[in-house]
Amino acid sequence: MSQTDELTMTDTALLTTPGAATGTALLTTPGPATKEARERLSNLAPRWPLEELVRRYAVADRLAPHVRVNMIASLDGAATHDGLSGGLNNADDKQVFDTLRMLSDVVMVGAGTLRAEGYGALRLGDVAVAWRQTHGLAAHPTLAVVSSRLELRADDPMLADAPVRPVVLTHGASPAARREELGTVADVVLCGERAVDPRAMVAALVRRGLRQVLCEGGPHLFGTLVEADAVDELCLTLSPVLEGGGAGRITTGGAPAARRMRLAHVLTADDMLMLRYLR
Ligand SMILES: NC(=O)c1ccc[n+]([C@@H]2O[C@H](COP(=O)([O-])OP(=O)(O)OC[C@H]3O[C@@H](n4cnc5c(N)ncnc54)[C@H](OP(=O)(O)O)[C@@H]3O)[C@@H](O)[C@H]2O)c1
Repeated sequence: MSQTDELTMTDTALLTTPGAATGTALLTTPGPATKEARERLSNLAPRWPLEELVRRYAVADRLAPHVRVNMIASLDGAATHDGLSGGLNNADDKQVFDTLRMLSDVVMVGAGTLRAEGYGALRLGDVAVAWRQTHGLAAHPTLAVVSSRLELRADDPMLADAPVRPVVLTHGASPAARREELGTVADVVLCGERAVDPRAMVAALVRRGLRQVLCEGGPHLFGTLVEADAVDELCLTLSPVLEGGGAGRITTGGAPAARRMRLAHVLTADDMLMLRYLR
């Protein structure tokens, strides 16, 4: 039996739901009954046409430096399920996640997220590469890793196999030997004397022509950016689950701050919300 044959009536109905094609219906599209059915459908057809997501997430001026943070949280504010953000997401969130990568010049992550999530090389799919090249962008965004201790291995695939030479953002008091080793596979950039200065970090990326910054976390890095008032946009996926337990929030550390944001849009995918907030 083929994958299509296995679909239930609800699944088949969704395949023809006009909501996938129009912005208005996009906000109210009902979903199929089971998680398994949703996952099978997502494999068959992305929920949103690419142009729709590009229209919703494009910035007005790509030459203006812009720091966009993309995070996911449970309904009760947990940033992880079983220690990983991947436990909260699904294929619809992944479609937005991939689109945001496609639109970025640089993907910035904290070293803790790399260590926890085991990122491979940052390499986009063929459609995204074609879209980027048509729009005058490099085939792949640059990976930028933020670290103080530099507990990163130069032979880690995310660095060693990167299609674009990655950047390691650190400070002048980080271990010199580690800087030297990582310098064999990445550009090591100092952004502060004894600690990473978030604004210096963004300025360093902008000097390299990397103005559209996508920060994929994690919570420590996001907390630092909030403290420095360096966040222009938050794309937050709200995953329809009550996690309970002691999982942390999507920001940790940094001094308290109350940065007011305004809602740019809400996309729904079954019970999941994709919220876009701008400063
Ligand atoms: N819900 C979500 O959307 C989401 C997104 C990403 C990650 N996560 C989850 O978050 C967890 C990891 O949390 P985390 O807070 O440890 O992640 P993180 O912010 O990625 O990592 C913290 C580490 O990154 C480096 N770092 C971050 N900010 C820095 C700064 N301002 N200056 C210098 N170094 C800085 C430091 O590395 P060194 O120790 O090397 O100095 C620090 O120990 C994982 O479980 C991951 O799955 C969730």
